[in-house]
Amino acid sequence: MISLPIIDAGPQRPVFANGPRSLASVKLLRLSITDRCNLRCVYCMPDDGVQWMAAQPDLLTPADFQAVSEVAASLGITHFKITGGEPTVRSDLVEIVKRIRAIPGVRDLSLTTNGILFDRYAVPLKEAGLDRVTFSIDSLKPDRFATITRGGKIEQFWAGMHAAEQAGYTRTKINVVMMAGMNDDEVADFARLTLDHDWTVRFIEYMPLGESGITASADPDAAIVDNQVLMARLGDAFGPLQAVDRATEVGVGPAHVYRVPGGVGRLGFISAMSQPFCETCNRLRLTAIGELRSCLFDGGEIDLRPALRPKPDKQQLAGLFEQCATFKPETHSHHGNRAMSQLGG
Ligand code: 5AD
Ligand code: SF4
Repeated sequence: MISLPIIDAGPQRPVFANGPRSLASVKLLRLSITDRCNLRCVYCMPDDGVQWMAAQPDLLTPADFQAVSEVAASLGITHFKITGGEPTVRSDLVEIVKRIRAIPGVRDLSLTTNGILFDRYAVPLKEAGLDRVTFSIDSLKPDRFATITRGGKIEQFWAGMHAAEQAGYTRTKINVVMMAGMNDDEVADFARLTLDHDWTVRFIEYMPLGESGITASADPDAAIVDNQVLMARLGDAFGPLQAVDRATEVGVGPAHVYRVPGGVGRLGFISAMSQPFCETCNRLRLTAIGELRSCLFDGGEIDLRPALRPKPDKQQLAGLFEQCATFKPETHSHHGNRAMSQLGG
């Protein structure tokens, strides 16, 4: 197979003046509002016996999320992502969105979802002020989708996507975690979706995080597919991918963005394993029980609850944000100690 060259438009990532360990570099706060989920993806959850972390009264309330977000916005954080686990399993999701939307300085408010329940949330969330949505799907084949999610029904995913289109969301993203021998043969089928849909399909390198079906296997690293390999395959299938200026993509994520020749949508490549992007990391994560975490992989977390309850102390919270940013590692280690569902996946 001959791999066609990739046309590259030059630097794709934002460059921050102050280095990633300064709060001035942090632009995005990911708020995990629950670690619960209505799916059990093999790369995210163990075969059985999930250790749930968040239970009443530890779980942050809508008022807690508002207080933390107000402090974040006052410190120059402009982008807010509501995530999980699966955020739509939490019944006060709409209220959380409304409260964050009302904060001055929130420029971009988005949500990640597996789509399964999104059809009932698309309109209420739009009315609450949600700007955009990122969906996750790892196979377009119904049987394989059910295997990877351990029981998910793909038609529910598509009902969620359809509801998002009907409700008028634009700039929708679709995350695909590519795993060797499991779904990497579908890369061209996923890319094909962008030929006539204005979606950004993003290929995420599998990251060995926490306890999951894959981390419990003999060789978890064998599941990692280098995004360069996928790009070469796509070059063979469609012709050279065309680089897109990252600044024109909504959000402040780490993806390298391309277009399939003639396509209306875009492709994103998130290469956390083959090309870690820690030096330009611009995010902090809040867990559903109020830990502010500096990195997906490495510890460096601070419990905000003592500063939140019984009454938020905004000055103290601001100090904890400053401190947390300094905990960012120079580059992340190979395995992370907690699953994405606990860290704002
Ligand atoms: N590696 C890569 N991506 C992951 N996600 C969850 N766990 C992992 C992992 N171990 C993805 C979800 C979702 C996004 C927020 O992160 O599929 O699309
Ligand atoms: Fe749920 Fe997302 Fe984890 Fe899948 S990856 S089990 S959809 S939290």
